Amino acid sequence: MQAQIIDGRELAKQTRIKLKKKVNSLYEQKSKYPGLTVVLVGDDLASAAYVRNKEKFAKRVNIISNTIRMPKETTKEELLDVIEKLNNDNDVHGILVQLPLPKHLDESTVINTISYEKDVDGFHIINSGKLLSGQDSLRPCTPTGIIKLIESIGVNIEGKNAVVVGRSNIVGKPAALLLLEKNATVTVCHSRTRDLGEVTNKADILVVAIGRAEMITGDMVKPGAVVIDVGSNYTEDKTYGDVKFDEAVNVASFITPVPGGVGPMTIAQLLENTVKAFELYG
Ligand SMILES: NC(=O)c1ccc[n+]([C@@H]2O[C@H](COP(=O)([O-])OP(=O)(O)OC[C@H]3O[C@@H](n4cnc5c(N)ncnc54)[C@H](OP(=O)(O)O)[C@@H]3O)[C@@H](O)[C@H]2O)c1
Repeated sequence: MQAQIIDGRELAKQTRIKLKKKVNSLYEQKSKYPGLTVVLVGDDLASAAYVRNKEKFAKRVNIISNTIRMPKETTKEELLDVIEKLNNDNDVHGILVQLPLPKHLDESTVINTISYEKDVDGFHIINSGKLLSGQDSLRPCTPTGIIKLIESIGVNIEGKNAVVVGRSNIVGKPAALLLLEKNATVTVCHSRTRDLGEVTNKADILVVAIGRAEMITGDMVKPGAVVIDVGSNYTEDKTYGDVKFDEAVNVASFITPVPGGVGPMTIAQLLENTVKAFELYG
């Protein structure tokens, strides 16, 4: 039997509908709308496309969205100066510096210069620490979206064997922490994992964030598993996930498509975080 497709676009749309109502009711209290500023350094085409989408969807929920575009030669001092100004701007509640940055700019320094109260990507060291210790915080968007996708299909995460392939700070590690918080038994795999297929075959919930097109084949998926494919691997004509969809769809019980799965929920969570920052600290 074929797996059911988890429709990330629809879930993101429902999320935005709720969020717009919340934003409008916050406006009644504060006479102000939340403000999100995205800083884009350089001319990476994929980044520019992400940023356009973020602007488009922010406007739909009445978030005042602004993008600062800076040339790829921007110095560390120039970028940090822009961030400091945004930190001190009372109309800006969320700041997002689009990654990756040009090589000469240290991402960690840049991210940790953003006020943690405006860090809507949830990557600041304080927000990472709060996540690790189970405190409420601005949490990374993609992993939060992953949990919502799993919960949207009525799957109870508690007690499940969850396998996360990938251990990046922005996806793999926080996704593992969030699954652990939901009481899954979590295994994290990476490039040095021996016999990856043996591990993934034990997963009731399989989250894949590698960045290699179609690396997870159908025989690596446990029958009936829930498969969340985070990968976005661009070619000229198509975007591929990290999972070989045509095979996995015949083995899994639920699966996210690429595109249309995790991506839309990442943006929806960014909007959620902006509204949360506005509510908590605005
Ligand atoms: N849809 C969205 O909203 C969204 C958001 C973020 C990312 N993404 C996509 O998700 C993918 C992953 O992103 P990322 O930022 O987490 O990537 P990343 O920082 O490059 O991390 C990739 C991870 O995959 C692991 N890996 C690489 N080769 C492997 C192999 N052969 N076997 C097992 N593990 C392997 C790496 O292991 P090591 O640590 O050992 O090197 C690393 O932990 C990319 O395609 C990215 O475009 C999508």
